Amino acid sequence: MTANDFSAALPALRRSDFPAAFRWGTSTSSYQIEGATREGGRVESIWDRFCATPGAIRDGSSGADACDHYRRWPQDLDLARDLGTNAYRFSIAWPRIWTQDGAPNAQGLDFYERLVDGMLARGLEPWATLYHWDLPQALQERGGWAARDTVHAYTAYVDAVTRRLGDRVNHWITHNEPWCTAMHGHWDGMHAPGIRDLGTALQVCHHVLLSHGLAVPLVRANAAGAQVGIALSLHPVRAASTSDDDMAAARRHDGLRNRWFLDPLAGRGYPEDVLALLGAAAPRIEARDLETIALPTDFMGLNYYFPETIAHAPGRAPLQTAVVTPPDVERTAFGWEVEPAGLTELLLRLHREYTVPALHVTENGSCYDDEVIDGAVHDEARRRYLVRHLAALRDALAQGVPVQGYFAWSLLDNFEWAEGYTRRFGLTHVDFATQQRLLKRSGQWYRDFLRTGT
Ligand code: FCB
Repeated sequence: MTANDFSAALPALRRSDFPAAFRWGTSTSSYQIEGATREGGRVESIWDRFCATPGAIRDGSSGADACDHYRRWPQDLDLARDLGTNAYRFSIAWPRIWTQDGAPNAQGLDFYERLVDGMLARGLEPWATLYHWDLPQALQERGGWAARDTVHAYTAYVDAVTRRLGDRVNHWITHNEPWCTAMHGHWDGMHAPGIRDLGTALQVCHHVLLSHGLAVPLVRANAAGAQVGIALSLHPVRAASTSDDDMAAARRHDGLRNRWFLDPLAGRGYPEDVLALLGAAAPRIEARDLETIALPTDFMGLNYYFPETIAHAPGRAPLQTAVVTPPDVERTAFGWEVEPAGLTELLLRLHREYTVPALHVTENGSCYDDEVIDGAVHDEARRRYLVRHLAALRDALAQGVPVQGYFAWSLLDNFEWAEGYTRRFGLTHVDFATQQRLLKRSGQWYRDFLRTGT
């Protein structure tokens, strides 16, 4: 099935199938929605710089305006409230807090305090992500995440933010998708800062995980009773065939894609089978780093989008693997395979193999080529995607997995990184020329489900 089969029956869902205290939310990130990149004392971020590189962004755009959320946030939080959600995941832009002399930028802290108060006033529990990819460019010039000093710059930033907001934000996510920070930023170069070097990427990855571990006790010290975790992008991995070669290749791919993050966080160190293949690209690890990375957290955030199919590919360093595209599978407009059962599978795996105390789906969503017709967006494909993934989450709950929340990506159409404004993921349509918001059919479904329970 390549297209969406709209005739297939959808699973019946009830809100009461989920725990009473379940977090129903939407998710966003600073650079993708805020705009106002030169206001309030914000400094340049690696994404401002990257977007200015010819050819880096599909449509040549940037987050300079995005959804103008910096000014329109009251209206956007109204949208989240009107959906009937009870939680909202957002990220704090480090470039709004960073200053040359090290003292935090008061205007930046004030902005996020107003934003958080706006959430609280609307009954939205704030879920703050401390790093969703927008590093201050000045820190990149000192080596960025490849430099160990950036870990300490990060903890100083986390200290400033959690001191200020710790009395009102009880849920903190240290990092969003370290895979993307490290690998898209420094291996394939698709994301800022656009470096292409595996050794650098793995060092970055180690520093990001280390900074996570250092942030955990800091958040707890500054935000009494707060819960802290990390959000990982994980992918179910399938072998392209049942041959021994493909099965072993799938295992190696899983090693770098998933276990490379899960194992050290769980106190098992980096997976030996992958380390053995990395040679000189392996990261430098100092004494006690692995202990720091493994400090227990309160929850894990899972960002789930798609599974991957892997074939043995001799000659392709370092893993001798290739991602292949299975024919005849359902895909979104982005080309991402649609497989709700992959969500159930990942949640079960996290619960059984890694015994995390609590799980939240911190991102899940789909991109389609939406059109506004007669003042409405009939995004039936996205509605079906949402219903089927919620049903998959319910299946995991029924099998005893402690999933406590679901955050749909995204509240708004936004700046989709290297794809610019060509990929729409929102439950709300944004006309980027007029900044008009329009709730899509999928968003109406989410609202009706949350409000009526069916
Ligand atoms: C995730 C990112 C998020 C968004 C979605 C589509 O990898 O965390 O910012 O771009 O993909």
